[in-house]
Amino acid sequence: MEYSEKVMEHFNEPRNIGELKDATAVGEVGNPKCGDKTRIYMRINEDEVIEDIGFKTFGCGAAIASSSMATELVKGKTVSEALKLKEKDIVDSLEGLPPQKVHCSVLAVKAMKKAIAEHYRQKGEDPAEHIEGYDKLDEETEV
Ligand code: FES
Repeated sequence: MEYSEKVMEHFNEPRNIGELKDATAVGEVGNPKCGDKTRIYMRINEDEVIEDIGFKTFGCGAAIASSSMATELVKGKTVSEALKLKEKDIVDSLEGLPPQKVHCSVLAVKAMKKAIAEHYRQKGEDPAEHIEGYDKLDEETEV
């Protein structure tokens, strides 16, 4: 399967790329099997809205395109809305990924959850109460 035009567009011109200097929360996740890593920076305001978001992905084209799409999908949303984002939403928005590359979209979702976990910790709340699968965020991503 070829990459869709959407994947190529987000790979060639990723949105929201780079570190956010005024981030209030950061999450990073790596896939030990392929060695790829994604870091997500979020600026979350008092109303729990993700005002701005940035990312750095050291990895394959599908992981870069997925991170770019993920940041577009959650920018301006609340953290609870962002937590509803699933890998499938990213893959669908990218008009599909080749089957062997679907796992690459997992990095972006997990990195966002980790950033949001940091946000809850800062508020003195237990991230596990808000984030589904919180305990498994550091588990290996399947390749
Ligand atoms: Fe590692 Fe795509 S091959 S995230």
